[in-house]
Order: sequence, then structure tokens, then C-alpha cells
Amino acid sequence: MADKEKAEFYSKGKEYWEMVPATIDGMLGGFSEISTIDIQASARFLNMFLQNKENPVGHIKALDCGAGIGRVTKHLLLRYFDKVDIVEQNQNFIDQARKYIGEPADRVEELYCCGLQDFTPVVRKYDVIWCQWVTGHLTDTDFVNFLSRCKKGLKKNGLMIIKDNLTSSGEVDNDNQDSSVTRPRELMVKLFEEAGCSLLAERKQYKLPKGLYEVKMFAIR
Ligand SMILES: C[S@@+](CC[C@H](N)C(=O)[O-])C[C@H]1O[C@@H](n2cnc3c(N)ncnc32)[C@H](O)[C@@H]1O
Repeated sequence: MADKEKAEFYSKGKEYWEMVPATIDGMLGGFSEISTIDIQASARFLNMFLQNKENPVGHIKALDCGAGIGRVTKHLLLRYFDKVDIVEQNQNFIDQARKYIGEPADRVEELYCCGLQDFTPVVRKYDVIWCQWVTGHLTDTDFVNFLSRCKKGLKKNGLMIIKDNLTSSGEVDNDNQDSSVTRPRELMVKLFEEAGCSLLAERKQYKLPKGLYEVKMFAIR
């Protein structure tokens, strides 16, 4: 992607999210009813690694990427990790996050206002780096570079979980409204490989309403 096109891709995405209300419906494109099943499936997937007898993932610190108002932080990550950091490009969502999260927000440490394309985690800081419904806002090259920086941000036995929409056509869908792409599984896996990450496991999100994209969770490191 040429520099100008890339700058536009990110600025249009940023502008789109500036018009979205800081609510669960806003985070989920009007599908707030899927939040509970989404979190249940995520918890089940995450627990496979937290409870692994040989190489358990630690439960000290997680990073929520493209966190919005902190839906995943509140309902998932703060249940399993002592501390959580957030990275989110939209200042309004960051400003609302502690209020939305409520009492456990005192265990949210850093709130970084930054695009993932420009974000570098502190080296070996995180047990889990969670990226949900945000990777389509990165170009392929920025996605690969972001993953390889995140890999360095993981502690021993740490992992990244990517949860996102997937196309079933084998093609990339472009959304000009929110300036994002939806990738097929094969491309996601190729980009993980390019970032030097191994795919440990993947699971499909069950019980989504008909007409939505397939959603999968990938655990990589
Ligand atoms: C669909 S919402 C998902 C929010 C949250 N992950 C969840 O599942 O509830 C997408 C979020 O990604 C953020 N976002 C979009 N582009 C981003 C970027 N380049 N870097 C960081 N965050 C971004 C948006 O501001 C928004 O908060």
C-alpha cells in the first residue's frame, strides 16, 4: 500500500470510531447480545492454556489491544489476570474505560492511547496479549510487524490470542465505511508465519447469529 493510501486507511478508521458511542453496542456494531457467548467461548479457550499442566500460561499480566471501553478487560481478562494494560487508539473510549469497568479498574494499570501500528509492548511484560475485533484495522505489513513486536512482549509460556472475523470466500473483504479488511483464515495463518509466530490452537466461536462472519480464536506465540 502506498504511503498516502495507508495514511488514509488509518485516518478513515480513526474518524469512523470517533463517531461510535462508547457503549457495548458501539463496540459490537449493534450486536451487544453476542457479548455473553463471546466471553464464554473466550474463557473456555483461554483456560486451556491457563490450566495446562506442563507449560501453564501465567496469570499475572495481560494486554488488551484495540480494547475500546474495556469490554474484554472487564468481563474476561480481569477475571483471570492480576493486572491488565489497555491499548486503544480512541481517546474517548479510553476516557470511559475505568468508569465502564467499575471497581476492578484499580487493577488496570497502563491505558495507552495509540494505534497498534505504532505500538511496541515492553519486552517480556505480558502473559497474554489479547487482540479482538481489531486486526482488520491494520494493513498486512503492519499486522505482521505488530505481531513480531508483541512476540517480544511475551513472558515465558506467554501467548497472543487473536479473535476476529474471517471470510469464507478465500478473499479479503474491504469495508470502506469503517476502513477495515476481513481476511480469510489462510491469509491470517500466513501472516502469523511471516511474523515468526507458531499457531498453537484455534477454535470457532459458536452460536453467532446467522449472517455474521465466521469468528475464530487463534492462540499463537
Ligand atoms: C469492534 S471494536 C472492538 C473492541 C473490543 N476489542 C471488544 O471486543 O469489545 C474495535 C476497536 O478497535 C479500535 N481500533 C481501530 N483501529 C485501531 C488501531 N489501528 N489501533 C488500535 N485500536 C484500533 C477501535 O477504536 C475500537 O475500539
